Amino acid sequence: MIGAAFALLGHSVVVSGRLGQLDGSNLLVLALLFLVCESVPTLLNVKQAAVSVSFSAVLAAVVLVGPEGAALVGMTAVFSVRPGLPPVKRLFNGAQFAICGYAAGQAYEWLGGRVGLPTIAGFDDLIVPFAGAAALFVPLNFLLIAIVLVLTGQADQVPLRGLAQFMVSYLGYATFGLLIAGLWATVSSISAVLVLLPLFVARWAFGQYLAQQRSYDATIAALCQAVETKDYYTRGHCTRVSMASGMIAQEIGMGPERLRAIRYAGMLHDVGKLGVPTKVLQKDGPLTEEEFAAIQLHPMRGLEIVRGIDFLDEAFAGIMHHHERQDGKGYPMGLAGDEVPEFARIIAVADAFDSMTSDRSYRGARPVGVAMAELRKGAGTQFDPVMVMAFIKAVDRDGWEPPRKVVTPPADVAETATKDHDDPTMPIQVVSER
Ligand SMILES: [Fe+2]
Repeated sequence: MIGAAFALLGHSVVVSGRLGQLDGSNLLVLALLFLVCESVPTLLNVKQAAVSVSFSAVLAAVVLVGPEGAALVGMTAVFSVRPGLPPVKRLFNGAQFAICGYAAGQAYEWLGGRVGLPTIAGFDDLIVPFAGAAALFVPLNFLLIAIVLVLTGQADQVPLRGLAQFMVSYLGYATFGLLIAGLWATVSSISAVLVLLPLFVARWAFGQYLAQQRSYDATIAALCQAVETKDYYTRGHCTRVSMASGMIAQEIGMGPERLRAIRYAGMLHDVGKLGVPTKVLQKDGPLTEEEFAAIQLHPMRGLEIVRGIDFLDEAFAGIMHHHERQDGKGYPMGLAGDEVPEFARIIAVADAFDSMTSDRSYRGARPVGVAMAELRKGAGTQFDPVMVMAFIKAVDRDGWEPPRKVVTPPADVAETATKDHDDPTMPIQVVSER
């Protein structure tokens, strides 16, 4: 590919001689613009922003300086500020942008596009050739990258998922190239700033938002990890409860904001186990009333632990009430029916289901069908029938992957609890001390 790009530029210089006639100042500004855009992922930390914006600079070059110019502009990707990018990758980036830029330029001219500063009267004639150039650039760019990934044995990295959406969004970004070229006649190089600045600001803000979401997720995951180290057998329990809760919430038509909150609630529902003495969690045999009370306190403890995290919002209700029952015999408050918050009714189903379908120290995992029957049996007394039905429907459609069989936990690292307070098939035995 690198060879092809050089051959292309050589051909432009020697055979066609067109490279010598290019408008040097426009070319320089476009190349600089491209270079800035290419270097931005490092600054922005949003990969897509850079790719999309830099390719609009190449497309603007197609109009303003023609195929050879677009190839030269694309070639400058070699010099982008991306610390740690190996030279061969730099050369490849430059080469594929050069080839795509050149091909797009050829398509543009072939469709009757005029190279040079567009006039206001001639702007309409630009649109069809420009659309043709963009329609070639985007798939070609994708194809060249896919070829290299396949040749280097990274075929699994080819972003096939969401490809259509990717193509459409990139064709949308192509419009920015047209805007830059169109405005160039009136405000010359400032047009790039006028067009791209708002885009960069929006992208930067979006990047900030993504970074914030990631740090939220990491915080929640760390808390879960802390809970799960207390019991070897519950590894992955929070994640699976979060997933199952999300399935139920989606099935009953919850909006994206609440969906996010219920997933957090699922992750954190048992965080209060951190406040229950490990010796109680690990005790073999029946618990005393006092010990059972300590377990029953875990939803409150959970709330105390995460109360300061304000983005959790509605998740608090889910954490606090996930052991309430429809018949009012649950804890900590003994709420019944609709008094139990919706989040808690969802988590109760997801929680019991995952507990039953996972291995415990005192029994093996039960099959999904058996656990489902158990949920049905408890519908109306322990569980909200609406949530049970929603979950059964979702699992019937999307399936459920139960955790893998637990091999005997390593004796030196693992702590295991003897009883699982979430298991509806084997309730904790309590003996009276009096
Ligand atoms: Fe719990």
